[in-house]
Amino acid sequence: MQNNRFYVTVFLWTVVTFAVTCVAYAGHLEPFKAAPVPKNNPQTPEKIELGKKLFFDRRLSGDGTMSCASCHIPELAYTDGQDISLSYPTTKNWRNAQTLMNVAFFKNLFHDGRVKTLEDQALFPMMSAFEMNQNLDFLEEEIRQVPEYQEAFKQVFGGEPTRERIAMAIAAFERTLISVNAPYDRFVKGDNSALTEDARKGYVIFTGKGKCAVCHAGVTFSDDKFYALNIPENPVLLNDPRVTATMRFVAKVYHYNDYRNLKEDPGRYLITKDKRDWKAFRTPTLREVARTGPYMHNGVLATLDDVIDFFNRGGGKGNRFLKPLGLNEEEKKLLKTFLVEALTGEELKITYPEVP
Ligand code: HEC
Ligand code: HEC
Repeated sequence: MQNNRFYVTVFLWTVVTFAVTCVAYAGHLEPFKAAPVPKNNPQTPEKIELGKKLFFDRRLSGDGTMSCASCHIPELAYTDGQDISLSYPTTKNWRNAQTLMNVAFFKNLFHDGRVKTLEDQALFPMMSAFEMNQNLDFLEEEIRQVPEYQEAFKQVFGGEPTRERIAMAIAAFERTLISVNAPYDRFVKGDNSALTEDARKGYVIFTGKGKCAVCHAGVTFSDDKFYALNIPENPVLLNDPRVTATMRFVAKVYHYNDYRNLKEDPGRYLITKDKRDWKAFRTPTLREVARTGPYMHNGVLATLDDVIDFFNRGGGKGNRFLKPLGLNEEEKKLLKTFLVEALTGEELKITYPEVP
């Protein structure tokens, strides 16, 4: 009797463990699917078209030199290809411009997750002193003076251009920026030939020995969470006084007391003031990763080889999340093949709008 109970327990335990593993695995990497849309800002073709015009409109910046697309360039998977992003004339940015591909899937926006919705996000770069440096009251008046915009806002929102509606239209456009039908998607749907043999081997390393899928999971290959991997600082943070100024300015805005002595990017700590978030940054998407370099929040790793070496070493000094992986040269090469070959989707055709 006692013995039977023992075997039943062991059997049940095995079944439960197996089921949990299956569920966990199924929740891991997923093929492409449609992005979520908030109820209060439904997608319509006219709204998307208006948002696209605004995205490319230089009126959104104070001196009329920059549009969103200045730093989110369609051909570079909506990044700007710089380590530290471009900036408003005479100022300097301090972080890497993120790709906007698949941004609709994220619940935490920016490297430090300080914003939760695309509607809220869009106003940040416009107001930012070192990005577009625009006054939003002034912008509303400028947009109202354009008959074509007046007409479009009336048609889409039933009213005048406002900052909220400008942001809603831009968000609707951003929700269309999705990396679709990558070889990886065709592969998980059962088409074995979608990936070369090397890419398939790289996939096994990605989910196995490389442990990448622990954080790079789900449809975007990101768990939307924050980790302090102790990535080295980009030297310009302290070498270029304009970058240092930007860092300390942002720290002040986020109520970091000793901002005048700040020497490194505090990451998510700026937002939460929780010690565990010191230098933590959000896991980025890996879709289109072949086109989103330089890499990391500060662009300090120039190539995918540098990134793979970084993870293979066990990440930055003293981090709690990564251990050395022991990948040999061949395995590193296969892993890179997977990233480059499997995760690059169909070219998203962009027809540039005529900005009124
Ligand atoms: C001067 C360069 C620049 C301009 C102009 C700019 N951005 Fe960005 N963008 C960045 C940088 C840098 C980041 C990352 C900032 C951070 O995390 O602190 C970013 C982040 C974002 C993100 C977050 C992406 C993610 O994965 O969380 C979105 C969305 C975005 N920008 C949209 C826009 C929109 C919309 C506009 C125009 C209204 C715009 N950006 C204008 C440089 C720029
Ligand atoms: C513990 C979670 C975690 C694991 C495990 C992990 N990553 Fe990451 N990865 C991150 C975070 C967080 C960042 C962003 C760090 C930053 O911006 O400072 C990142 C950044 C990247 C980037 C840069 C993307 C970009 O656009 O800047 C690449 C590429 C990458 N990881 C690939 C991998 C590979 C390959 C592996 C496996 C060898 C791996 N990661 C394992 C969390 C992880």
